[in-house]
Amino acid sequence: MRLVLFGGKGGVGKTTLATAAAIRLADAGWRTLLLSSDPAHSLRDALEQEVGPEVRAVEGVANLRAVEISAERLFLKFKEEHGAEIKGILETGTYLDEGDIDELFSLSIPGLDEVMAFVELVELMERGEHEFYLLDTAPTGHSLRLLLLPELLDEWIRALARVRYKYRYVVSRLARREIHEPADDFLFGMKRTVREIQRLLRDPARCEFVVVAIPEAMVIAETRRLVEELGRLQIPVRHLVVNRVVSLEHGGCPFCRERWEEQRGSLQECEEAFPQLTTLRLLDRPRPVKGLRRLREIPLPIQWFVADTAVATAQGLR
Ligand SMILES: Nc1ncnc2c1ncn2[C@@H]1O[C@H](COP(=O)(O)OP(=O)(O)O)[C@@H](O)[C@H]1O
Ligand SMILES: [Mg+2]
Repeated sequence: MRLVLFGGKGGVGKTTLATAAAIRLADAGWRTLLLSSDPAHSLRDALEQEVGPEVRAVEGVANLRAVEISAERLFLKFKEEHGAEIKGILETGTYLDEGDIDELFSLSIPGLDEVMAFVELVELMERGEHEFYLLDTAPTGHSLRLLLLPELLDEWIRALARVRYKYRYVVSRLARREIHEPADDFLFGMKRTVREIQRLLRDPARCEFVVVAIPEAMVIAETRRLVEELGRLQIPVRHLVVNRVVSLEHGGCPFCRERWEEQRGSLQECEEAFPQLTTLRLLDRPRPVKGLRRLREIPLPIQWFVADTAVATAQGLR
């Protein structure tokens, strides 16, 4: 079982490549789930068919299912399920001083809706119905925030736990009894989930992040930052796709030749900037890559993912 995340600057081809890779894996017989955590969902545009917040089969591709995770919807569900517990924890704040309460609010909950997407992902992976999980992430800034969330959430949980601890101390002193409340189970449950997400994202046997870029100076600068940040987060990165490379295959018109000249420096820069990454250059096509037929023409090597899976299988990791 493997998770492959596709990330990079907006418009470079993340959705296209995640979708093309998913189709290739499924065509090769792997049970594959294609997911999107980008609020501007576009799997349906790439696949040219309906994709919704529930997992559903992709028509025309045996073994492939797809889902557009709606963080907002999950957050509502989460609030319905756990709102009372969170409120309970916060209300114990009456036993706290101003500083404690400020701390809680400054940590605040924004971003919790995004972490929900990962919680959903882990739940889907735990069901074990698929061999590959391909995640089309939001543009760089967003996806990094999403990847940082386990840490943010951890901080939040620690703060809540401190509140709980003080509260328990006060109450047990007053009441001279041990207390146990659902809020504790909730906190421990969250903690476990966050740990699981972190372990998964950092485990090279189960996860990798494919970086997508195009040969343009600004994109390469942002890609450098992305790769550095992923390194800091200890998320395995092995592959880079440089998309939309101009071809001079047919001699090239003056316009293409000029674009090619423009791209040459950037391609060189890419090679020098990421010597540790296996790089694939993909040609710029005359039309958007939409629909199964065109997506199947994208020559993304699934050996990138499958070779490791064979090893993982041999080690009993799958
Ligand atoms: N190699 C390519 N040649 C031509 N068009 C491409 C290529 N790769 C992607 N596209 C098109 O570029 C647009 C943006 O791609 P998309 O995958 O949605 O980017 P992202 O998800 O990174 O924002 C889409 O219309 C897609 O069909
Ligand atoms: Mg996209």
